[in-house]
Amino acid sequence: MSKILITGANGFIGSFLVEEALKQGHEVFAGVRSGSDLRFLKDYRIQTLILDLSNKEKLRQKWFVLSQYFAKFDYVIHNAGITQAINPDDFDLVNNQYSQNLLESLVDANFKPKKFILMSSLAAMGPGNAETLSPIRLEDKFSPITNYGRSKLNIEQYLSGQKNVPYLILRPTAVYGPREKDFLKLFKAINKHVEPYISSPKQLLSFVYVKDLVRLTIQACHSDISNRAFLVSDGQTYTCKELSQLAKKALNKWTIALVLPKYIVKGVAHLSESFAKMNHRTSVFNIDKYKELTSLNWSCDSKETQIAFDYIPEYNLEKGIEETTNWYKNNNCL
Ligand SMILES: NC(=O)c1ccc[n+]([C@@H]2O[C@H](COP(=O)([O-])OP(=O)(O)OC[C@H]3O[C@@H](n4cnc5c(N)ncnc54)[C@H](OP(=O)(O)O)[C@@H]3O)[C@@H](O)[C@H]2O)c1
Repeated sequence: MSKILITGANGFIGSFLVEEALKQGHEVFAGVRSGSDLRFLKDYRIQTLILDLSNKEKLRQKWFVLSQYFAKFDYVIHNAGITQAINPDDFDLVNNQYSQNLLESLVDANFKPKKFILMSSLAAMGPGNAETLSPIRLEDKFSPITNYGRSKLNIEQYLSGQKNVPYLILRPTAVYGPREKDFLKLFKAINKHVEPYISSPKQLLSFVYVKDLVRLTIQACHSDISNRAFLVSDGQTYTCKELSQLAKKALNKWTIALVLPKYIVKGVAHLSESFAKMNHRTSVFNIDKYKELTSLNWSCDSKETQIAFDYIPEYNLEKGIEETTNWYKNNNCL
């Protein structure tokens, strides 16, 4: 039985990673922080570890204590991260600096795993060409457009310099599924008969259903491949319009399309960001989000990933949205 540490284990993707690792027969250590919401970590087999990623010394002590019981984790899936922040510098602090703390503490404590998997993001690469509309490829140059994307690129670059650590970098596109809260906003709008468009309805998007992403991630732990990055999607490209149509179908709702002019959306993003800053809260809608939502091309080519890991996505957007909608309905989220 392999020992897997999963950080950010209580979050959306993390809780599914934990379930998949247990399903595949691993011994799971769920890395959370004190005060994390543990509602999706109820399985009695889960061993919870409170980790303070801001403190390298405390982490090192934690590994030292654990080393009295077992040699090391076989795999570490470093999934903890922030996608929203009050202060733009927090992205680099959490997604880059804290990730370095984790890795360095493991190395210093001689607790280095057989593989360290970093949950990065397609945002580290930035959007694809808006004129040719060709899908984002691994060999494309990095051009992140948000603080979030730059923080993910920074930790990727740091990791690439760690030649003595077997690592893998996964760059998922937009991940959706049960428990996710960003897509829920679109579903709620459609449930109220409003079909909002911030970008062109022809905007190209890619998605991966959370269950496919976590299956791939656990599979990737065992693979011989290391010290490389991979893009993760369901292998298809969709338009923004198709996304709305599939949500409408799953919810069985008629809608009125609301195409929001870009300058209004930008103004709202500025206001929302300023208001959130004044109230020391994170704003879901801000200038970075505006840039992301209005980039015309988020399609990506994940063929290499499918070939490298024999990964065949089980969910296309239609199947994934149907399952997600049922979960939202059954859990009174809409
Ligand atoms: N969702 C997507 O579409 C998507 C796409 C590509 C990549 N990703 C990446 O996937 C990972 C998981 O994202 P998610 O969507 O599952 O987000 P999520 O639900 O917000 O989960 C984030 C997890 O990270 C933990 N975390 C946040 N700040 C932390 C800190 N300062 N110290 C320790 N732990 C901290 C959270 O703990 P608390 O609950 O205690 O806050 C939570 O467990 C992230 O690295 C994200 O960048 C997500």
